[in-house]
Amino acid sequence: METQAEFVDTYLDAATVANRIAEIGAQITALGCGNQPLVVVCVLKGSVMFFADLARQLNLPTNLVFLGVSSYSGSTESSGAVRLTHDLTLDIRDRDVLIVEDIVDTGLTMSYLLDILRARGPNSLRVCTLLHKPARKRVDVPLDYVGFTIDDVFVVGYGLDFDERYRNLPFIGTLRFGPN
Ligand code: IMP
Repeated sequence: METQAEFVDTYLDAATVANRIAEIGAQITALGCGNQPLVVVCVLKGSVMFFADLARQLNLPTNLVFLGVSSYSGSTESSGAVRLTHDLTLDIRDRDVLIVEDIVDTGLTMSYLLDILRARGPNSLRVCTLLHKPARKRVDVPLDYVGFTIDDVFVVGYGLDFDERYRNLPFIGTLRFGPN
């Protein structure tokens, strides 16, 4: 039986990603925050690398918090089902909140996140995504900051996985399957 090997081709190299994050960090910093620190939400697990790098580009008071969601399971297609796996440990009522996501693909995950966080009464809710794949949009979500708009390709690395692998790659690559 023929086996399928996986190959990763570079799509966005580490320097390109870092430069763009510095630009977004400067934009967010320029807007400042209110009386209280900006609540920066890391959406686990995919945005962990982006979140860590972006947070270090924010020159303002922040509270860094984590939210776990699960949407895909070992596949390159969205199941459409979103599940909360880890909740925030901070009350966001009346706070300025920035959601940091790795990629907005169909938009279903972000739409779910916005619904549950809006219901908690924040003063403001902004969305920052490293990648946006508009070709596969199923719901409209407001995106305040977008790192890169990408083609309809499945990407891995820099936090993004395929079947829980490749998250540790320092760059963003596309996954290609081929015969051994
Ligand atoms: P959406 O709900 O379809 O917008 O997908 C959001 C989530 O699906 C992201 O947070 C990722 O975890 C995952 N995802 C979507 N596209 C990709 C991809 O190209 N590579 C890896 N994960 C992806």
